[in-house]
Amino acid sequence: MGFKSHSSFVNALLIFSIIFLGLTSARDTITSSQSIRDSETVTSSDSVFKLGFFSPDNSTHRYVGIWYLSDTNVIWIANRDQPLLDSSGVLKISKDGNLVILDGKNHVVWSSNVSSASTTSATAQLLRSGNLVLQDDTTGQTIWESFKHPCDAAVPTMRISANRVTGEKIRFISRKSASDPSTGYFSASLERLDAPEVFLWINGTHPYWRTGPWNGRIFIGTPLMSTGYLYGWSVGYEGNETVYLTYSFVDPSAFGILTLNEQGKLKLVRYYNRQKTSTLLLQNSGCDVYGTCGPFGSCNDHSSPICSCLSGYEPKNPEEWNRQNWTSGCVRKEPLKCERVKNGSEVSQEDGFLKLETMKVPDFSERLDVEESQCGTQCLQNCSCLAYAYDAGIGCLYWSGHLIDLQKFSTGGIDLHIRLAYSEIQSSSSRGELHVSKRRNKGLILGVTLAIGTVILAICAYLAICSCHSQKRTVKHSDEIPIRRVTEVQKQVKLDELPLFDFEVVATATNNFHFGNTLGKGGFGPVYKGLLSDGQEIAVKRLSRASGQGLEEFMNEVVVISKLQHRNLVRLLGCCIEGDEKMLIYEFMPNKSLDAFIFG
Ligand SMILES: *[C@@H]1O[C@H](CO)[C@@H](O)[C@H](O)[C@H]1NC(C)=O
Ligand SMILES: *[C@@H]1O[C@H](CO)[C@@H](O)[C@H](O)[C@H]1NC(C)=O
Ligand SMILES: *[C@@H]1O[C@H](CO)[C@@H](O)[C@H](O)[C@H]1NC(C)=O
Ligand SMILES: *[C@@H]1O[C@H](CO)[C@@H](O)[C@H](O)[C@H]1NC(C)=O
Ligand SMILES: *[C@@H]1O[C@H](CO)[C@@H](O)[C@H](O)[C@H]1NC(C)=O
Ligand SMILES: *[C@@H]1O[C@H](CO)[C@@H](O)[C@H](O)[C@H]1NC(C)=O
Ligand SMILES: *[C@@H]1O[C@H](CO)[C@@H](O)[C@H](O)[C@H]1NC(C)=O
Repeated sequence: MGFKSHSSFVNALLIFSIIFLGLTSARDTITSSQSIRDSETVTSSDSVFKLGFFSPDNSTHRYVGIWYLSDTNVIWIANRDQPLLDSSGVLKISKDGNLVILDGKNHVVWSSNVSSASTTSATAQLLRSGNLVLQDDTTGQTIWESFKHPCDAAVPTMRISANRVTGEKIRFISRKSASDPSTGYFSASLERLDAPEVFLWINGTHPYWRTGPWNGRIFIGTPLMSTGYLYGWSVGYEGNETVYLTYSFVDPSAFGILTLNEQGKLKLVRYYNRQKTSTLLLQNSGCDVYGTCGPFGSCNDHSSPICSCLSGYEPKNPEEWNRQNWTSGCVRKEPLKCERVKNGSEVSQEDGFLKLETMKVPDFSERLDVEESQCGTQCLQNCSCLAYAYDAGIGCLYWSGHLIDLQKFSTGGIDLHIRLAYSEIQSSSSRGELHVSKRRNKGLILGVTLAIGTVILAICAYLAICSCHSQKRTVKHSDEIPIRRVTEVQKQVKLDELPLFDFEVVATATNNFHFGNTLGKGGFGPVYKGLLSDGQEIAVKRLSRASGQGLEEFMNEVVVISKLQHRNLVRLLGCCIEGDEKMLIYEFMPNKSLDAFIFG
């Protein structure tokens, strides 16, 4: 076959494999008469997704998976808990219509395991969405699909669903480690289906993090979502019983992979035109851990210690509490009216509510179908009601029993009204809550400054250490740097809510800081207008080396902007620090004067 005309066997092999790959890449299905060997792949018709065998970094085990563009972006694994030890594996459709993986000895190591299959012929097709669908050839019915059996990753149009009636849920489960994709300790599922929210669990039993309820637009316990940085999410219903969460992008060039990583963090990697544009971790602070401060305790990342009792409450076990063991939480100082009445003491004044702003609302909310104005009154009329909140998208929420997993945010969240005895309301207003909150704010600014300072210093230190390595890296490798950077920094400090942009991404967005993109110039350096590849318009403030705006001013600016953010002046999307370069990336708002970006 023309082999002889090539002097080198290696050349022949190369050409052979090119032809070979060319042939296999044309196919997006496996039929009953075909099988896929270790070296072969099935490719979606747009060549974006591939199904085939791969080994994770530092592992010799072989797995069958689906990946996006390259096998470093695996979105699904068939035999995550049944690895093949060598490359003798085969993927095929068995006689009973199931998709199976066989080892070298023809033993079934993994099966789609649909008992109802029992068909003689079926076809598996890798769709352009990345979904692998197994269909009965005679009826055309879908027997099985990979989207309904996820591993640790979600892609657009995939659904995290839960059934209200049967309790059946689709769960995402993390890997054990980067090199071991077997079932790990963290899982994610949709819970509290009346006002759905995503829960992360440890070992499937202990809640680890929750997003807060969905309000039709965002999860109200996830402030990052209100920055507009995360979009395209929606909650929907299939019939009466099934609730699902999904995300999608209007622009077909946009893509994202949401992964529950081995440390129990949700990581979103976004792509545009098949290029990676950003990496984001959804939760990353001590307060994010579910119920850190116990019942009636409230967590604040910017205070020290992070836990405090709600106003009107005191530590249940002061000695434990002072040792920073917050598990027992807090108890009410003054009994509520109902309790006093029940005990036969004289009936006194009605209880009242204390408003706590920008809160992550507690778990186990119940809903009342009343107007905003009635929400508090209704709560007062029910002795079990301990707190209420109103969100325009959800309506009236109230809580009875414990108030658990509360968090005080600097931005985002909603107002939570906690019920207190009349005397407590009196004393908190005489103490002057306004005064108290002002003092707290000073503490907050200091806290944020210190926190962000630490973050930036750590980032800089890390980048300084890495810069010599990264310069030697090839283009392919530099692709992976952003993730590593964020997660490495992550290990040392809390990155808080500030996303990190890649220098290349910002450079591309501003046409390499082209003169024509300049919006203006201040003492610190120029401001550029830019367009991220996903269509978002940005303003980039590039701090010139000569400006003298040092790290401290940079940090101050971040603090000021973070504080202004919720007043909708300018929205800080993130920062970029690379070598001597320090840049702030804002959302570009055409109607805002340039001053907003320059001094803002
Ligand atoms: C296959 O399915 C049956 C019931 O449908 C179940 O009992 C069994 O554990 C499954 N096997 C695997 C390997 O998932
Ligand atoms: C693979 O091993 C190398 C060297 O031990 C290590 O630096 C790297 O982080 C490992 N990669 C993964 C994904 O574990
Ligand atoms: C989860 O399971 C692992 C392994 O059994 C164990 O080491 C760990 O302590 C468990 N974590 C929790 C929170 O139960
Ligand atoms: C939804 O529930 C209603 C009342 O229980 C029932 O009449 C209707 O058929 C259900 N619809 C679906 C799609 O299950
Ligand atoms: C914290 O307090 C709880 C409740 O008293 C106790 O069970 C737990 O062991 C304590 N944890 C630590 C680390 O001391
Ligand atoms: C109510 O009475 C019970 C039993 O007499 C007592 O233990 C409890 O402390 C009383 N509660 C209040 C709020 O006075
Ligand atoms: C008061 O709230 C509890 C807890 O949600 C609920 O079970 C009870 O029905 C409510 N009582 C009234 C009178 O609404």
